[in-house]
Amino acid sequence: MELSLNSMLYAFSRGLDYVEHDLVGISSHHSKRVAYICALLGEQFGLNENEKSDVVGCALLHDSALPEYIQEEANQGNEVLKSKRTNMARHCVIGEEYAKQIPFHGNVDNFILYHHEAADGNGIIGKKGDEIPLGASLIHLGDQVDAIFHLSAVSDEKYSKIADFIKRQTGKLFAPSQAEAFLDIFHSKESFMYMIDREIDNALNKTLPLYHENYSPEQLVSFASFFARIIDYKSRFTRDHSMGLAKKADAMSNYYHFDAEKKAQYYLAAALHDIGKLAVDSNILEKPSGLTPAEFTAIQDHAWISYSILSEIDGFQPLGSWAALHHEKLDGSGYPFGLTAPELGFEERLMACLDIYQALVEKRPYKDGMPHEKAIGILDKLAVAGRIDGDIVSDLNKGFGG
Ligand SMILES: [Fe+2]
Ligand SMILES: [Fe+2]
Ligand SMILES: [Fe+2]
Ligand SMILES: [Fe+2]
Repeated sequence: MELSLNSMLYAFSRGLDYVEHDLVGISSHHSKRVAYICALLGEQFGLNENEKSDVVGCALLHDSALPEYIQEEANQGNEVLKSKRTNMARHCVIGEEYAKQIPFHGNVDNFILYHHEAADGNGIIGKKGDEIPLGASLIHLGDQVDAIFHLSAVSDEKYSKIADFIKRQTGKLFAPSQAEAFLDIFHSKESFMYMIDREIDNALNKTLPLYHENYSPEQLVSFASFFARIIDYKSRFTRDHSMGLAKKADAMSNYYHFDAEKKAQYYLAAALHDIGKLAVDSNILEKPSGLTPAEFTAIQDHAWISYSILSEIDGFQPLGSWAALHHEKLDGSGYPFGLTAPELGFEERLMACLDIYQALVEKRPYKDGMPHEKAIGILDKLAVAGRIDGDIVSDLNKGFGG
């Protein structure tokens, strides 16, 4: 399938920004700003187009392991969202592992692993100087500056604070040549204007135009596992949900004899269907009961956010609709758009049925998985009520009924 990797990562980075915002209060478009800083610095350091796009990709994903890391800390009883973070290096280690699933052009080893390393060796793993690849230190520089100064708005006063900070940290946080290059490129308040929310997409597109490449079905499956793992770690309540749904989507793709290409596409769409959950407050996602109407709406918003994030990916239709319309119902009672039967194709209907089935049969901390027959009973009732597709429900029964 022809896909634009950078457009896919740009879109995904929006989901990641929500998570990083919860953790350290960064502003929206943070990952894109880090990516943009890396692209400009990379140019200055003579990177070719492929190298530049690799460092941009890693910059977009620099904190992709935060959801998993937050869960790890929570499992040890640590209040990661407040202050006590015992093992920050873990998000670098896990993030590095994740990046191996993405088909970059060249070698990006340690770009994410060392994205919190300081030039003087006082970073969180303790690497220094030549041990840190250029990609990692560029990400580190961009990440630090945007996290501290929120580059979405830069006044004259803020500009001098940034310049002071970079100068003071030269040789400490940042290698002298990189600090110098940064001050060269960002030499005035105006030079930060390309990074305001309204401009950053344009600025990135000019620096690194969207490129399209052909990805094999195996590569699509690898993307899918990458995204599903991150999304599933957003909440311990739904830890196997996206992966579980993707596997069931795959089984039904076999049942319906989709070809290899379509099977991989459907698997990817299933893996991404709840990407909007990255934007929903984990406390609401994990509230055991008694959601207020506002909290209920906040949860439902995930479907619209999934749609919006996936719509940003260049050339991603119809996969975006297969994925994001999974809460629509044939009688118009679903969300986010309240579409009706004629507007919902077979793939959307199948995803909707699979999503309900998966949610019923999966085990969660507060419930056991429901047996197949009982789950099909519930789906049947929904079909009789005209909300989901009865033919598909009977196919699910045949497909999963043992
Ligand atoms: Fe980080
Ligand atoms: Fe960051
Ligand atoms: Fe959903
Ligand atoms: Fe779901």
